[in-house]
Amino acid sequence: MDGPAAKKPRMGVNGTVGPEDSRHTKAAVLFRAAGYAEAGTEAVREFSEIHRQSEKCRWLENGFLQQFVKVGEQACRVCIYFPTQELQPHISIAGEDSLITHGAVDLWTWSGDSASAAPVHQRLLKGSRIVVPPGSVHCLRADARQGLVFHGLVEEDTFQKRSTDFQAAAEHRMPSRFAGRTVLVTGANRGLGLGLAKAFTALGARVVACCRAPAKAEELLGLSPKPILIELDVASDTSVAALPEKLRDSGVCSLDYVINNAGIASPNHPYDPILQADPEVMKSVFNVNVIGTIMVTKACLPLLEMAESKCVVNLSSQLASIEHCYGGLQGHFGGICSYRISRAASNMAMRCFGGELREQGYVFIAMSPGHVDTDMGSSGGRKAPLTVEQSVAGMLSVIAHSSLEDNGKFLQYDGIELPW
Ligand SMILES: NC(=O)c1ccc[n+]([C@@H]2O[C@H](COP(=O)([O-])OP(=O)(O)OC[C@H]3O[C@@H](n4cnc5c(N)ncnc54)[C@H](OP(=O)(O)O)[C@@H]3O)[C@@H](O)[C@H]2O)c1
Repeated sequence: MDGPAAKKPRMGVNGTVGPEDSRHTKAAVLFRAAGYAEAGTEAVREFSEIHRQSEKCRWLENGFLQQFVKVGEQACRVCIYFPTQELQPHISIAGEDSLITHGAVDLWTWSGDSASAAPVHQRLLKGSRIVVPPGSVHCLRADARQGLVFHGLVEEDTFQKRSTDFQAAAEHRMPSRFAGRTVLVTGANRGLGLGLAKAFTALGARVVACCRAPAKAEELLGLSPKPILIELDVASDTSVAALPEKLRDSGVCSLDYVINNAGIASPNHPYDPILQADPEVMKSVFNVNVIGTIMVTKACLPLLEMAESKCVVNLSSQLASIEHCYGGLQGHFGGICSYRISRAASNMAMRCFGGELREQGYVFIAMSPGHVDTDMGSSGGRKAPLTVEQSVAGMLSVIAHSSLEDNGKFLQYDGIELPW
């Protein structure tokens, strides 16, 4: 490319993705789903990878894939984005005009140079056109479940002459993945539940904060915008049975995320040897951590069904790992029995949900928040290494990037997969 514009960071091919690369297999599935190759016929050629070098374009997280194909008589650029993949704010000098052939996209466009004004948001589905006026800053995020495939409606010759400039002002920020989503959190009045409610609220989600005594939940009542507060005791059959009606009465018609956070440990946590197991303590822990989590999830399924994300996160613990329970990471041989047994059982419940609903676009995750400085985390005089904010930031990042591939996984707040 000639001229001064050539010095700016711009569209660039950063490599090729061929059949030996695992991304090629996934991209080929999307490419075929979009109708560019007949299923079971010729192999899909290698893709070019665009914008991976972060030193060139600091707002770009990852590269999308492209390939030129003939659509009718015209050679067109086909772009493939994996689920949740983003293209950060940038300026396309020539504008964009493309046709979505698979999946869906959230597109944000800023008018003029005004980074302070809120961008215009469009949710575009298969068959829609992605139209961006020349010179406007825009960004996009592919559908969390299906990804996104589209082809440009400009000819290859014209495309090769155009220019994309990534020098959008730093104030043009990628909107949060949780903005506009509805998130239900149980046990939202203190500890990690409160931290989750605060963080989701700050990111623009509509939070349904459930707790046993909403009138006393001062920190929740002080949040802005105020969450929807619902009284819920997860261990009470009548309280859980009333949840759907309370959600309806509060105007909640769909739930993108359900975070089963409410949980308890034995009163002597973490000292709880099985040789001294108390049946009443074990039943009460099991009732909240296992049966409560299952029944709240069941009650929420009809509203999850109405949303795109359909994601259920059960707070678990690395103490549930049977593989790690002899010494090693946990540093114990036995002990903490009521809690460990309940968390291993709630992990299996999560696997059962994920298994039975695997064809319906749900994602069920068992999430260990790490050892966190809360009432539970510091019980028994322990000093927890993580703050609520650190743990919550990690969990939100894992949840935001979750896809169907994560259904049925046991993940830690930093994204590491834990052994059962
Ligand atoms: N902190 C850690 O290091 C750690 C590590 C691994 C896993 N976890 C898990 O993370 C989750 C949150 O833990 P945390 O550390 O924030 O604990 P926490 O500070 O003890 O808070 C527990 C929360 O659960 C609520 N809750 C308890 N029983 C309930 C019931 N029957 N119905 C509704 N809400 C109920 C509590 O409400 P009330 O105020 O009404 O009691 C409180 O809001 C738990 O599931 C826990 O097992 C924590």
